[in-house]
This record gives sequence, C-alpha cells and structure tokens, in this order.
Amino acid sequence: MSCTPSTKKMPPRFSEPVLQFPDPGYTRQFAYGGTAALALSDDGKRVLKFPFTFETQHCNEQVAAGAQSRMEESQIMLAREKEIYQHLGLRPGILAPLEISSVGLVFPFYKNGDLRAYLQKTWGEVGQDQLMLWAEEAVERISFTQSMGVYQCDISTRNFLVGDDLSLLLNDFSGSRVGDKTELVGPETSYAKALQDDQYDTVQGSMEGEVFSIGSLLYEILTGQKPYSDLGNREIKDLFQQGSFPPTSTLAFGTIIQGCWMGRFSSAEEVKAALKAAKHKRE
Ligand SMILES: Nc1ncnc2c1ncn2[C@@H]1O[C@H](COP(=O)(O)OP(=O)(O)OP(=O)(O)O)[C@@H](O)[C@H]1O
Ligand SMILES: [Mg+2]
Repeated sequence: MSCTPSTKKMPPRFSEPVLQFPDPGYTRQFAYGGTAALALSDDGKRVLKFPFTFETQHCNEQVAAGAQSRMEESQIMLAREKEIYQHLGLRPGILAPLEISSVGLVFPFYKNGDLRAYLQKTWGEVGQDQLMLWAEEAVERISFTQSMGVYQCDISTRNFLVGDDLSLLLNDFSGSRVGDKTELVGPETSYAKALQDDQYDTVQGSMEGEVFSIGSLLYEILTGQKPYSDLGNREIKDLFQQGSFPPTSTLAFGTIIQGCWMGRFSSAEEVKAALKAAKHKRE
C-alpha cells in the first residue's frame, strides 16, 4: 500500500507558538536560551537578548496558555537581569550591556562564543597555562559578583563568554539572586550540590551551592568536560549525594576542586586565594 503525502495544511489547533522579534534591526535568531531569546543585529556586531514573545493566534488553548506562562516568566527573568547589570555597573570581566531598554538588553557580539563551546572546539590546542588562567579569571569574576550581593545561581562554562583577547566575561544574570531577591534559576545537575530532597531549599541560591558549582566549573575548564559527562542526571545526583566525585589528583588545582565539592571553602574569595597560592607553589 502506498501513502500519498498530504498537501493539506495542519489544522490551526496543532500550530506552534511563533517567536516575535521586537526590533527590526535584529532579525537573525542565533540562540534560544532557557530564559530568553537572542538575535544578532543585521551588521553582526550586536546581540539583543529579549523576553520571549509568542504569536499564539493559531494555537490551541493549552499551547497558548503554556506560551503565555513562558512569556511571563521570561519577562520576570529579564527584568532581574537588567536590575543586576545596573547594580554591578561596568567592570572588566563582566559583560557590559550597550543598552538596557524596555525591549531588552543589547551586548557586543563575541565571535568566540561561550566558554563551553570554545573549550570543546579548541580542546588539545589550548595550553595548560591558558586553562589555569581561565580558572583564575572565572573565580575572580564570581568573587566580584558575590562581593556585590549577587549569586548567579547557574554558574557554568555556558555563562562565560570568551573575549577576542581570550579573557573571560561573566554573563547571564537572568533570574539570578541579588540581595534578598531570591533566585529564579538553578544550576545544571553536574554543577548542583545534591542534598537530601528535604534539604533542597537550603543549598539553592546559597554560598554553599555557589562554591560547589565553582568546583564543577574548574573541573570543566581543566578537563574540557563536565563532571561525570558520560552519566545521566539521576546517576550524577546519586553519586553527588554519596559524596562521590570524579578523580582530580592529576589535575592542576585538583585539591581545590575537591575542596569546593566537599565544602571546604566558604566563598569564591577563598577559592581565589587558594588558586593564587597553588599557582605560586607550582612556579
Ligand atoms: N554577547 C554575546 N556574544 C556571543 N554569544 C552570546 C552572547 N550572549 C549570549 N551568547 C550565546 O547565547 C547563549 C545564551 O545566552 P544567555 O546565557 O544570555 O541566555 P539564557 O536564556 O540565559 O540561556 P541559558 O539558560 O542557556 O543559560 C550563551 O550561552 C552564548 O552561547
Ligand atoms: Mg546562559
């Protein structure tokens, strides 16, 4: 029996929400983050990060309601990100917005992209000195934000951009914690301190959680891979809950990485000092 492909259009009730672009100068979507959309300016020099806005006219009620809640959540996340960039001010190593407006946030476009993608693309070509420098830079950036009362709550190589001179820029404060405004995001599993479920709230958005994430960040910088990158989320969480972490004894800063995972540091500032001391010892 043969099937003739149908040329009939999908009935409207199966339509997907369609992302709307809020500025005619930014029409090339180049990333679809977890919290917002990003578009490149037509000259390729700037990026607009804007809250999801969907056309849902042809969607069924359930899909439209889902899109509506994503839009509302995205608005709240981006409002928090704007507030944090304004609070942090301009500082080397922190991504500097070119514009903050009701439309969204505009940033310079960094062609090297984020650190995770860059590590994967260049692994084997980047020397150990550069990796160690990135480790120190990353922790220095986090230490600064913590000194300003900001916990990013999604520390990850995904959330650092690689500048043209290869220096790191911390970015993405969508839904991060500032002062007593609690976080609206959390880290990916291999960056998340796993406690018993009933203790879940005590570590999210806390210094303890942030320091744990720094351990995974340093591990990924020095190995090019997330901790337990070959395992699934459930297995990773179980291992973390048992206090099992990947071996680091052969890595530069290996003791410090374990120290972050085991709760031996009480701030990024302390990790920063330990990295500096360890580097001097090697020299
Ligand atoms: N200025 C920029 N230049 C180049 N690439 C960028 C820039 N800003 C963001 N990106 C890329 O877009 C991705 C998503 O951006 P961002 O982290 O700000 O959005 P998000 O919605 O919070 O995403 P996620 O939830 O995945 O972290 C980044 O990981 C990076 O790869
Ligand atoms: Mg991000």
